[in-house]
Amino acid sequence: MRPNNETSRRDFIKLGGTAAIGLSAINLIGCKNEAPSSEEKNHSQVDHNRKFPDNFVWGTATAAYQVEGAVKEDGRGVSIWDTYSKIPGKIMHNDNGDVACDMYHRYKEDVQLMKSIYAGAYRFSISWPRIFPNATGAPNPKGLDFYNRLIDELLANGITPYATLYHWDLPQILQDKYGGWQSKETAKAFAEYATYVTEKISDRVKHYFTLNEFYSFTDLSYGLGQLAPGLKLPQKGIYQVRHNAVLAHGMGVQAMRQVAKSPIEIGVAENIVTAVPVIETKKNIDAAKKATRELNAGLLTVMMEGKYTDNYLKSMGADAPEFTDEELKLIGSPLDFVGINVYFANNYVQAADNEAGYELIPHAKDHPTMASPWHRISPESLYWAPKLVKELWNVKQVYITENGCGTTDELTNEGKILDTDRVMFLKNYLTQLHRATTEGIPVKGYFHWSLMDNFEWIYGYGIRFGLFYMNYKTLERTPKLSAEYFKNVASSNTLL
Ligand code: NOJ
Repeated sequence: MRPNNETSRRDFIKLGGTAAIGLSAINLIGCKNEAPSSEEKNHSQVDHNRKFPDNFVWGTATAAYQVEGAVKEDGRGVSIWDTYSKIPGKIMHNDNGDVACDMYHRYKEDVQLMKSIYAGAYRFSISWPRIFPNATGAPNPKGLDFYNRLIDELLANGITPYATLYHWDLPQILQDKYGGWQSKETAKAFAEYATYVTEKISDRVKHYFTLNEFYSFTDLSYGLGQLAPGLKLPQKGIYQVRHNAVLAHGMGVQAMRQVAKSPIEIGVAENIVTAVPVIETKKNIDAAKKATRELNAGLLTVMMEGKYTDNYLKSMGADAPEFTDEELKLIGSPLDFVGINVYFANNYVQAADNEAGYELIPHAKDHPTMASPWHRISPESLYWAPKLVKELWNVKQVYITENGCGTTDELTNEGKILDTDRVMFLKNYLTQLHRATTEGIPVKGYFHWSLMDNFEWIYGYGIRFGLFYMNYKTLERTPKLSAEYFKNVASSNTLL
């Protein structure tokens, strides 16, 4: 999610009315839960070169505020997204997540959708204000019950749950009391919440992501004012917000390990700033590696290294956040895996004869994009991001915690969604992911964003990221052509 004001206005116009079309979606693409066809099997038997590694995890991902709805049910507290989405003009069509996909009530149906496309894992987020309506203090048992039901349903259907503890829906009370991520109190509260959740679900959930997309909920939310709570702090404030966010991660990791009921694995889900060598020469590849370390210095790099890079400290100067060595140690707590959300090449890079050793090449004016204006198509990012993460920090397990694309999905006269654009996107990105796995880069799994169309933050329901099409009037889910594609890939574990 990398919105920017200029283009979002253009899109508000371009997409006018899309979400309101009440077309009855007809289930035309056969996504039944059946064993791979002999054709699929033959394909995978014949073409070993196109196989992904054994036990590769094929999953889908969503986040609480984007899919659950039921915002006032069973004692849930208010989040900053409830508040922000109600401010007129902030969200396309003034949409909000009050109902979203109503997954809170339809989770059983949605687990069947996952099963129908052979998704063996599901990355979902837990809504902090459902668990602690007041951020800390007395938990709300009914909130936890929902996740218990969901987890049990997933396990009963052979789908492995991967839980994200924070996907942007901060309890409003923390914003009001402390300024949200501007305060270390929020980091402490996160660790308390993470402790409670881990105690309650670690008998069944073995994989955790602490927080999702730091850059989005720090810089875009507190610096550029584009996401909730929509603040535009000066640079010093942004550095402090970033520091508090990574501190929450470190404190969370430590607390979770202490209370886990059985062995668990913990990582982050970070929208790494990707650096892709513009031409794959040895010099440019070295430059891309240096760039990756520096461009992520305030977030992923400090989580991996437990220190801020010299260049980052120098560039912050007097605006540097308040931090201690002890905090840095926590922030650098060892992880079991690194999750990266990869959508595009943030930067093309080449070697340069300067102090940094690299220079960034701006995207050309006509670089093609998907429906989200920020989304420049660059499949090779799905090769370079995991490769450079592995090489920089000797990471043993990488997950692609998000990849996918937004489209506007027109229905055919017969009510089908033939999203050849998403299929094209997937073929090209997965080709690059496959390239990574064949070179031994330890990518353990891929989570497609998203299972189904959902509340796309400031774009509301106007941009669709799902493998399943959502009719927002009837809440009927219909598989798109891309669901069929995903099913074929996942069931055969083969690049198709
Ligand atoms: C990243 C975010 O984690 C997710 O919430 C968002 O919907 C997708 N990218 C697409 O923008």
